[in-house]
Amino acid sequence: MAKSNMDQDILKVLLSREDIQRRVQELGDAIYDNFRDKDPMFVGVLNGCFIFMADLVRASQMKSELEFISVSSYQNGTRSSGVVQITRDLQRDITGRHIIVVEDILDSGNTLYFLKNYLLAKGAASITIVTLLDKPARREKPIVADYVGFEVPDEFVVGYGLDYAQQYRNMPYIGVLKPEIYSK
Ligand code: IMP
Ligand code: MG
Repeated sequence: MAKSNMDQDILKVLLSREDIQRRVQELGDAIYDNFRDKDPMFVGVLNGCFIFMADLVRASQMKSELEFISVSSYQNGTRSSGVVQITRDLQRDITGRHIIVVEDILDSGNTLYFLKNYLLAKGAASITIVTLLDKPARREKPIVADYVGFEVPDEFVVGYGLDYAQQYRNMPYIGVLKPEIYSK
């Protein structure tokens, strides 16, 4: 394996770089088929979306606009606080637009439940949710993603945009973090 001082903190690899690449292309193709005539706006949920979003929009090869929103619900822990706050709002009007929300992982559902209602209240014509990962075992809010890359077990995962305390986002694969890292 190539050099990395992050691999040592990983218990096991869940999804390889190749697994992810293949699935992101499938998602991009499906989104192209459904949105090519809709002039959609991708809204990425920062910071976790940044790598997935970059790959997905290039995989879709579709005329579209990109926007970002930042929310916080985690305070460096591994569980959702349930309270979602917007820390950086959209910079453009979304009235009447078809919105494709791009998220790294759907966990408790608190973030996407809040965002979906928020974007509808801002006048979006439709909301479609794309999440790279889905952890259905942990759902607290009634929210279902329209496109899911992979279902994952109830373990804390990092890499390909996903962090623990802002680290590991730049790993090219997705892995399960060794529990001793976050119980330190
Ligand atoms: P939710 O609001 O609980 O659905 O959580 C959504 C956010 O929690 C995601 O956008 C991630 O930032 C974070 N999150 C949830 N599970 C994990 C995980 O296993 N690894 C890293 N981040 C996670
Ligand atoms: Mg996130």
